[in-house]
Amino acid sequence: MIATSSLEISSKAYRQNINFLRSEIGPKPVISAVVKGNAYGHGIAQMVQIAEKAGIRHFSTFSSDEALEVFNHSKNSSEIMILGMLYLEELEELIRKGISFYVFDFIRLEAAITIARKIKIPAKIHIEVETGFHRTGFEWQDRERLASKLLESQEEISLEGLCTHYAGAESVSNFVRVKKQIASYHEFKAYFQGKGISFKKFHTACSAATLIFPETIMDMVRIGIAGYGFWPTKETYFAKLPDLPATNKNPLKRLITWKSTVMSIKAVKMAEFIGYGNSYMAMEDMQMAIVPVGYGHGFSRLLSNQGQVLIQGQFCQVVGTVTMNSIAVKIPKGKSVQLGDEVILIGKQKGKEISVASFSESTQQVNYELLTRLPKDIPRKIVP
Ligand SMILES: Cc1ncc(COP(=O)(O)O)c(C=O)c1O
Repeated sequence: MIATSSLEISSKAYRQNINFLRSEIGPKPVISAVVKGNAYGHGIAQMVQIAEKAGIRHFSTFSSDEALEVFNHSKNSSEIMILGMLYLEELEELIRKGISFYVFDFIRLEAAITIARKIKIPAKIHIEVETGFHRTGFEWQDRERLASKLLESQEEISLEGLCTHYAGAESVSNFVRVKKQIASYHEFKAYFQGKGISFKKFHTACSAATLIFPETIMDMVRIGIAGYGFWPTKETYFAKLPDLPATNKNPLKRLITWKSTVMSIKAVKMAEFIGYGNSYMAMEDMQMAIVPVGYGHGFSRLLSNQGQVLIQGQFCQVVGTVTMNSIAVKIPKGKSVQLGDEVILIGKQKGKEISVASFSESTQQVNYELLTRLPKDIPRKIVP
């Protein structure tokens, strides 16, 4: 059976993004491709394949189930790092598989040490420190207890990284907070170095930090949104714009295209209401196309009467409320649309484009949210 819509993921666009990011960070730092949230909606299986072809050998996930998905799809024994959730009963399997994970409290640390001792395989851990994000991370006052634990457990743990996460590097309003975080991270780093504790990698930067706080680029950067071809915010883009070469002012390329087809065409008379309720009344006799994509497929209800799609290279406005499985769009006057015509929800058609940014701006959603809401069961195809 054929799904009501499909996604195409461009490996060429990904290569271009990685090339751009590589030119920003220099040859040495490792790029960890952040593939949490089903690879920001792009599909973990697809992104592991695309990224490994582009030379990526390090992946970050939020949770253990995502890590396992990367593990199962990796063809190059890539490194995998869990930034967030795992259950303690999964530790043994994760350690055996060589999957590394963040440690931000003593409970996880003790559990990892105990299991590593039992199975005689060191646990690969990244110590996350609290520098001002206030989500997870060891506090400054934990440092002595932590240092002694790390020193006495050298057989059981492999210290893969010392890390932190910035509280909104993509926005100018957080400038002072991020600068304080950078300073605080360096205090932790100096403290551990003073104790003779060494980490394989120092890493703190997400996309925005990598792009606009170059001092946060250390041994590794954790790249999510920029890898998928989006600027974390407009501010990040404008901050970077003066440095971009005149020949390439838009180096980040969108990977994703979202397509469907026209399911039905209907004429509506002036003064009729369209769909549920009375949110849209036809102001003239008009033609509508029904597209089989609704909020159940990730097309937000907030796009009711606001979203647009492309059909035959024309922007067509959503009319009425987005329903669970379909939307109605207005066919521009004088245009003829056929059953089965291609509908672009995100992407290009005949020189016109609907980017995720313009799509989400109209609903106040950020790219991150819209992308990760794309259901897993929409088929995703890698295109060259
Ligand atoms: C710890 C951590 N590192 C890196 C990232 C990647 O962020 P971005 O998508 O902005 O590059 C995230 C995403 O939220 C994160 O939680």
